[in-house]
Amino acid sequence: MSALADFQNEIYLQGLGEVVPELPTDLTRLEALAEERLPARAFGYVAGSAGSEATARANRAAFERWRIVPRMLRNVSERDLSVEVLGTPMPAPVLLAPIGVQSIFHPDGELAVARAAASAGLPMVLSTAASYTMEEVAEANGDGPRWYQLYWPKDRDLAASFLERAKAAGYTALVVTLDTFTMAWRPRDLDQAYLPFLRGIGVANYFSDPVFQKAVGGPVTDANRDTAILHWVANFGNPSLTWDDLAFLREHWDGPIVLKGIQHPDDARQAVDAGMDGVVVSNHGGRQVDGAIASLDALPGVVEAVGDQITVLFDSGVRTGSDVAKALALGAKAVLLARPYAYGLALGGEAGVRHVLRCVQAELELTMTLAGVTRPADLGPGFLA
Ligand code: FNR
Repeated sequence: MSALADFQNEIYLQGLGEVVPELPTDLTRLEALAEERLPARAFGYVAGSAGSEATARANRAAFERWRIVPRMLRNVSERDLSVEVLGTPMPAPVLLAPIGVQSIFHPDGELAVARAAASAGLPMVLSTAASYTMEEVAEANGDGPRWYQLYWPKDRDLAASFLERAKAAGYTALVVTLDTFTMAWRPRDLDQAYLPFLRGIGVANYFSDPVFQKAVGGPVTDANRDTAILHWVANFGNPSLTWDDLAFLREHWDGPIVLKGIQHPDDARQAVDAGMDGVVVSNHGGRQVDGAIASLDALPGVVEAVGDQITVLFDSGVRTGSDVAKALALGAKAVLLARPYAYGLALGGEAGVRHVLRCVQAELELTMTLAGVTRPADLGPGFLA
């Protein structure tokens, strides 16, 4: 029996002592609050998308377009939101999406997120572009479930080293992001001439890596810092990768592998043919291709193509528990929550992330219950119009 919705009662009871939540419970309001409180560069980096930001708007518009059709008198007294995704049990079908350079939002960055995720029991997907090393984040995450997201570098030995380290540090699934082998045209960052990596932020996994260090003449110090950053620039992404290269990952990773950034059903079919375990239907929150299809609009086609063969996950535009319900109804097994928890981190550190995770889960349970559903698997397109 799920008790995620009890957060609602907790809030009302605290109100009897005149205590109200420090952050909004309508998570769509976090962005505006973050804009007031964050330095302009950090806010531009998280809120910004590619080009005219048409894709980011389309992501949200698609969620607005789909509507839930509640059903009545279905005995929804006992609920269970827990699911198991690629061997990872979780109390609700929600993972924390990989978000890089989190120390620009809060000094504790990924460490705070790792603690909040562990306390909720929700899996954290750690970015290669993290501001703390994967070993430091694993320690903060403790017994919490964690997956590792790979930005596949040009240097194969470096890629293999990342995978080896991730496995040793207890990351159980591999998420390979395909849509960002180069940074898109991002006007908010361009207008401020701001790319954190060039300032040595978001490169902890690289600078701490033995293969990377060997290539730059030893551990990174002030003496070889510029060399190290240039080496990062030269190695970050690999535009020459093709489907055949996925065999390399299989050789170096024995757990589940998920491809992130899939939008076309044919690419999803290729993922199946390549022996992958899952895909994340994602357009990187509109941060890569301006004028692209809304990720939610890409979801049904991918589910129809491969949903019975591999695990289909979803992100891009999820802001609330009701959004999670919509993506599940359209066939996602679980969703990756992204910007809202980054805003929670920016506004309240670990407690801010906890707040966001508790809100999303409580709202998801209440939305499902009031729509007449008690388990994620029971949601389907019939609940949407
Ligand atoms: C991201 N995203 C991302 N994805 C990834 O695979 N590796 C990464 O390092 C990052 N970094 C990152 C930084 C910031 C500031 C943002 C906002 C996003 C993309 C992320 O995982 C996810 O796909 C999108 O954020 C989903 O869109 P919404 O729901 O946040 O709009």
